[in-house]
Amino acid sequence: MFPLVVENLSYAYRSGHFVLRDISFRAAERESIGIVGANGSGKSTLCCCLCGIIPHFFQGQMQGKVMIKGLNTKEIPVNNLAPEIGLVLQDPNDQIMMPTVEEEIAFSLENHLVPPREIMERVEETMELVGITRLRREYPYRLSGGEKQLVAIATVLALNPSIIIFDEVLSMLDERASRQILEVMNKLKEEKTLVIVDHTLQALPLFDRVLHLEQGKISFN
Ligand SMILES: Nc1ncnc2c1ncn2[C@@H]1O[C@H](COP(=O)(O)OP(=O)(O)OP(=O)(O)O)[C@@H](O)[C@H]1O
Ligand SMILES: [Mg+2]
Repeated sequence: MFPLVVENLSYAYRSGHFVLRDISFRAAERESIGIVGANGSGKSTLCCCLCGIIPHFFQGQMQGKVMIKGLNTKEIPVNNLAPEIGLVLQDPNDQIMMPTVEEEIAFSLENHLVPPREIMERVEETMELVGITRLRREYPYRLSGGEKQLVAIATVLALNPSIIIFDEVLSMLDERASRQILEVMNKLKEEKTLVIVDHTLQALPLFDRVLHLEQGKISFN
């Protein structure tokens, strides 16, 4: 079974204009798919559809379907999909909620009833992996854009989903942080399905396949 299946997906925000048009693709286990395309071509909208944010939190019109591990995203609450699929948003400000970095990372684990001891271990591990242990007691809103992005990445990795979507996460990072995150992605690739939006093409060597979005359609892959 393919862990991620997109079938004839079209989506219009409330304006009624379709920003995704008849998209179909499947991702295999441990496959890494790159998504590239111009600004406004629909990459972030597609990411939101993949993890159920659309249709659950947007009142637009969605046609076709997205299946995660055989579950139709339309029928399953986003919170129940989170252990299977994680999304690191393009703008980390949309993802940050808690007063310290470590609480931010622990928060979603608490929501998913991970035992406290394991939460502490996973928080330590992911801070180390992403290189933000020194920021653990900082207030996330006051961090720089790149640091916030690293916190958002750690938060998703801590949940350990088998499918991870990264929406332009490298664009705000300096060279050192980009290299570190590319290394993390390279490790994740061995065991997870990855969808990586990356118009800078920095992650190109990681991709098994690249989908080009052009005005909401897959132009070639
Ligand atoms: N919340 C929203 N409400 C209405 N329209 C939206 C919303 N978000 C995006 N759009 C529209 O959908 C289209 C696709 O936007 P999207 O953010 O998916 O593109 P993108 O490929 O991710 O662009 P970028 O490279 O700039 O991140 C754009 O025309 C945008 O104006
Ligand atoms: Mg985008």
